[in-house]
Amino acid sequence: MNFSVFLLLVLPSVIVLAQFGAGEEPTTQDTFDYSTPENPVDTEPPVVAEKFPDTEKLFGIPNNLWRCGSDFVTKMAIKQINNTCPLAAAEFNHCCAVHDDCYDGQRGQKHCDRQFCECLEYHVATDPNAANCGNLTKMVCPLLSYYGRFAYDDSRDSKNSSVTESPVAAESLKVPTQIPHLSEPYVEIYASCDEQHATIASCALNNDLCYRTPRAEPKEQCTVHLIRCLDDTRFNRKPSKTCDLAIDEYLWKLIRFGGGSEDTKEMETLQDEDKKKEIQMNVLMMQEILTNKTLVRNVYLQIVRHSSSLGLLSCLTFLFCVFSCCGIVIYAFSRCGEEEDIRRHDEVINVHVTSSASEVPSSSTMSSMKSSSSTRK
Ligand SMILES: *[C@@H]1O[C@H](CO)[C@@H](O)[C@H](O)[C@H]1NC(C)=O
Ligand SMILES: *[C@@H]1O[C@H](CO)[C@@H](O)[C@H](O)[C@H]1NC(C)=O
Ligand SMILES: *[C@@H]1O[C@H](CO)[C@@H](O)[C@H](O)[C@H]1NC(C)=O
Ligand SMILES: *[C@@H]1O[C@H](CO)[C@@H](O)[C@H](O)[C@H]1NC(C)=O
Repeated sequence: MNFSVFLLLVLPSVIVLAQFGAGEEPTTQDTFDYSTPENPVDTEPPVVAEKFPDTEKLFGIPNNLWRCGSDFVTKMAIKQINNTCPLAAAEFNHCCAVHDDCYDGQRGQKHCDRQFCECLEYHVATDPNAANCGNLTKMVCPLLSYYGRFAYDDSRDSKNSSVTESPVAAESLKVPTQIPHLSEPYVEIYASCDEQHATIASCALNNDLCYRTPRAEPKEQCTVHLIRCLDDTRFNRKPSKTCDLAIDEYLWKLIRFGGGSEDTKEMETLQDEDKKKEIQMNVLMMQEILTNKTLVRNVYLQIVRHSSSLGLLSCLTFLFCVFSCCGIVIYAFSRCGEEEDIRRHDEVINVHVTSSASEVPSSSTMSSMKSSSSTRK
């Protein structure tokens, strides 16, 4: 039922979108698109705010940080998620944020879409709150490759047109409010990681939401989620040393100085020894998570990424070996044959020389010249 309703809702919008996408001024349609934070001047925020459901009220996500859908699809995405799996809104929104950054970075539409669908499917498979949206995910993914093209092209165009860096809206650069003592290094991440602003803002937002929603798990689990979220960006961006450093710096401080404000307050009331123990526990736990996550995935990704280039390399090496071996063998054989020829030739000459040596001395010099010329060959 939901499936067909969504189909009915989405298909006309795809057609409308296609028509607008074919128009000559795609930038005027960017009312709530990926480029909103970069150029808020040529849009009309009050009108837009009226048009879209208040995601802050529905999911606790401010509209400027809502990342799912573009243009008309945004409204339907919000409604669908609200009706089907409202408790998974933050997770889905994070997938959308990563997808936005991928489009903005122009890292290949197919790659971005595949990653996005894997993200959605992962949550559907692992989180009971998201399981209801399994059909929605199955629906969206095939459509994405079709209508995502317009958004992808728009991203490229807006990137081209804004050669001079326009100031990014401050409220979209979110910092975890529960970790105020580490705001500065978080801002540093924004400065160091180009084209990752949506993802990083989403990590901060999800940390806030984690503290707000009552959960069975302890609050420090929110810090663990933040670590995972930031650590995970490594696999979703262009390799960047400065970005790696900024994130490592932040993670290090997070582990060293603790996560949420409630944790630190609680810790102040504890005895010194207990405090030390708790900090050590935290460090150990987080290190374990980091190694679990990064190490295993690093190794896996390295194997996957390098296997293609490695395969080519080993193939070339093998071919080179085969050819050079063949060459050596052929050369050796030809040399053998040549040497035998030369030996035979020399023997003939020697016989000739010995037989003719007694007669005329000049003929021996002639024959030696002959033999030397034949060896030169
Ligand atoms: C969101 O879902 C709630 C509960 O199902 C419903 O009352 C509300 O009208 C929905 N809002 C929108 C904008 O769809
Ligand atoms: C998904 O769709 C299938 C059939 O298309 C249906 O049987 C199933 O109940 C749906 N699941 C959800 C969670 O809506
Ligand atoms: C955008 O820039 C790229 C590379 O700089 C260029 O190949 C492409 O044609 C440009 N696109 C537009 C629409 O200007
Ligand atoms: C680390 O991985 C092991 C299995 O590989 C698992 O049992 C353990 O729970 C993981 N630790 C954490 C903190 O996720």
